[in-house]
Amino acid sequence: MVKLLRAVIFDLDGVITDTAEYHYLAWKALAEDLGISFTREFNEELKGVSRMDSLEKILARGGKQQDFSNEEKEKLADQKNRHYLTLIKNITPSDILPGVKEFISDLKTRGIKLGLASASKNAFQVMELLGIKDQFDAIVDAREIKKGKPDPEIFLAAGKLLHVEPDECIGIEDASAGVESIKRAGMFAVAIGAKENFPEADLVFSSTAELSFENILEIYNKNLT
Ligand code: BG6
Ligand code: MG
Repeated sequence: MVKLLRAVIFDLDGVITDTAEYHYLAWKALAEDLGISFTREFNEELKGVSRMDSLEKILARGGKQQDFSNEEKEKLADQKNRHYLTLIKNITPSDILPGVKEFISDLKTRGIKLGLASASKNAFQVMELLGIKDQFDAIVDAREIKKGKPDPEIFLAAGKLLHVEPDECIGIEDASAGVESIKRAGMFAVAIGAKENFPEADLVFSSTAELSFENILEIYNKNLT
């Protein structure tokens, strides 16, 4: 049976806007405060990963996981979040990444539903600042799920809210944990970034400016046959 593509579920940070850079800057500052080196390469492992899991990974990198109580870890995560909030406070609709607005309006014209699956507890706020929250038919953020990416729960929850089956959805991600989450949900995975970083993705665009529904449809339909 030929399946129709009925919904597109977006990741937020690094796909709709460049908040991935702000997460990077805020984690780097915290890590360096703790005497732990922090590189862009290591930061790739944190993309799509929840706040507390990211902190655990940073502490593990510095061999400091046992140095803090749970309460102290909460404080460290909060310190990072306060820094992050100061970085995002001036976000405006002009911070939507190139090509994303046009892609969204193309999807709307075609009657495709829009979902958001973000591991960030700040997702609603960022979507409000970008002025595009109301264009989305369903938003699932970190507060509503038990297991973060790479678990499929968040993409499955968004699909459910949109009343579509997983094989009628595509997910768009800039993180390998996110692409894994999409694939484990049984959806078609589009990645943004360097091809070699996403061997599991069904289609990779080097940047959001390249996003094209026509290209997605071509590969999606090929995968069906
Ligand atoms: C994801 C980001 O979207 O959200 C991660 O890719 C971030 O880098 C995670 O750690 C959690 O975000 P927040 O805003 O809840 O700390
Ligand atoms: Mg992301």
